[in-house]
Amino acid sequence: MCGIYGCCQRAKAAKSALCGLEKLEYRGYDSAGIAFLEGEKIEIIKSVGKVSNLKIKVGEKVSNIAIAHTRWATHGRATALNCHPHTSENFIIVHNGIIENFKELKSNISEKFYSETDSEVIAKLLEKNFDELSEISDINERILNSILKTQNQLIGSWAVILICRKNPLKIYAFKNKSPLIVARGKGENHVASDINAFEKREKNLLKYYNLNNRNIAEISQENIIFYDEKLNKIEIKEIKKQCEICQENCNYKHKMLKEINEIPKAIYSTKKHIKNSDFKKLSKKLKNYSKITIVGCGTAYHAGLYGKFILEKYLNKNVSVELASEFRYKTQIKEKNELVLAISQSGETADTLAAIEIARKNGAETAAITNVCGSSITRICDYVLQTRAGAEVAVAATKSYVCQILALYMLASSASGKRISRGIDKIANKTILSFSLENLKEFLGVKKFFFVGRLCDSATASEGALKLKEIAYVHSEGYSAGELKHGTLSLVDENSLVIAIITQSNILDKTLNAVHEVKARGAKVLIVSQFELAGEGKEILLPAAKEEIMPLISVIPLQLFAYHYSENNGLNPDMPRNLAKSVTVE
Ligand code: F6R
Repeated sequence: MCGIYGCCQRAKAAKSALCGLEKLEYRGYDSAGIAFLEGEKIEIIKSVGKVSNLKIKVGEKVSNIAIAHTRWATHGRATALNCHPHTSENFIIVHNGIIENFKELKSNISEKFYSETDSEVIAKLLEKNFDELSEISDINERILNSILKTQNQLIGSWAVILICRKNPLKIYAFKNKSPLIVARGKGENHVASDINAFEKREKNLLKYYNLNNRNIAEISQENIIFYDEKLNKIEIKEIKKQCEICQENCNYKHKMLKEINEIPKAIYSTKKHIKNSDFKKLSKKLKNYSKITIVGCGTAYHAGLYGKFILEKYLNKNVSVELASEFRYKTQIKEKNELVLAISQSGETADTLAAIEIARKNGAETAAITNVCGSSITRICDYVLQTRAGAEVAVAATKSYVCQILALYMLASSASGKRISRGIDKIANKTILSFSLENLKEFLGVKKFFFVGRLCDSATASEGALKLKEIAYVHSEGYSAGELKHGTLSLVDENSLVIAIITQSNILDKTLNAVHEVKARGAKVLIVSQFELAGEGKEILLPAAKEEIMPLISVIPLQLFAYHYSENNGLNPDMPRNLAKSVTVE
């Protein structure tokens, strides 16, 4: 969940690498570091905290080669020693991923280790292999063979960019399971863990390539050479960079707020573009699968809960939803003609990718709903439905969640021959414009939240609670309203705020029962509904729409509330503690 960037560019390499790191900061922001070639010397500068600290330390440097890293600590605390780049005598590396066998590898290396990280072992192992391959006289070939040998010894996930002191006019990149994208320009070439890192450089960068597992890229200012796992030169198919919505904050204080405000545009774009040939094929086949399982993590899992609701309702067939992190370890019951549908904004979540791999081994067909074109998940699934939310960089998923629900709704509608609702983007816009914090100020100090709903509103409740946990650090529970009385009610008291989401008329009264129960225990109540229920408690009144698509709308005020709660309590909603976007490790 770190971000890595490397580039070969006349005079501007360090500057570009730092600029790329800023774009990657959402992947980790507890420390950052850079290595660059200054004259004949390789400078390494590290800094604890944000990339801006590192930028100040580095200043303006003229350099043709640079590699950089922004960290989200997994092995070892966020200290300068643990910060990347990591080094051995000749190798300087930045790494994203986890080396599972680092302890074992370490025990076979005599060189002294200085950090607590798993990554340092890569630099040391490269050195050891480089020493052992001294019979290869050509330095470039020796480096490539050292990489090959090192990759064969590593277990886990990695995306690595390195500089070798023996050939410092090139950078090398290699990967397994963690993403790595190479960008070719005119007289400049770059590589990064995320395509979004290249934003702003778009005019100069012309082509993008997604490395496959165990591929190696040899990159200089003028050239890029790709190798397979046997060191054969290979061609890699170019990937298209999706036209991104601008990544700057524009007039918004935070990216999260900007991204919530982009929901209408994201809905419009997703609705317009999602019906590709995979969508059409999948919607035709959907009814015929004997079993449909949806997998995802966090917010994507909540979208999956909505998927179950809408697919069961429209297709009249059983659908199960599993947390990808559980699915990968549970007893696998193979079934003929099964579909496993993965939902992942990034398309890089390790647990979700692992779940898909298992499903494939079981003989299931696989499909992905993802927001990132060319991401790892798109390369392993039989069908790919791409949402068009645009780059989402705030850690908390907002517009991507709405687009995932939209994709599921459209899939279910097409598969069952139902007409797709019109003007959803406009309804979303109305919801955003009508949100007023003024009415909710009294709730900004509450420390105990319960979000409740039934059927698809229960998925929204879970998502609303997750947003608040993530960015406001308050305890919140998302619950099926009917379950309150089976235990959780004992926690409800006059210090609690119960947010009830009520968008489905057939269970309106039932959810109101829960509202009455909590009111009787002294709890404050906030209702989120398109039905006028102000008599029951404070209400956020939603614009009316077809009930099946209300979860696209009802989540918006919950996202906005979490944002404002966080902001009002002096936190940075874009960078919640302990979290980073895109969890590429287990
Ligand atoms: C919550 C959030 C996470 C992600 C989860 C899955 O706001 O962002 O819970 O939803 O890590 O990520 P993707 O969708 O990229 O697989």
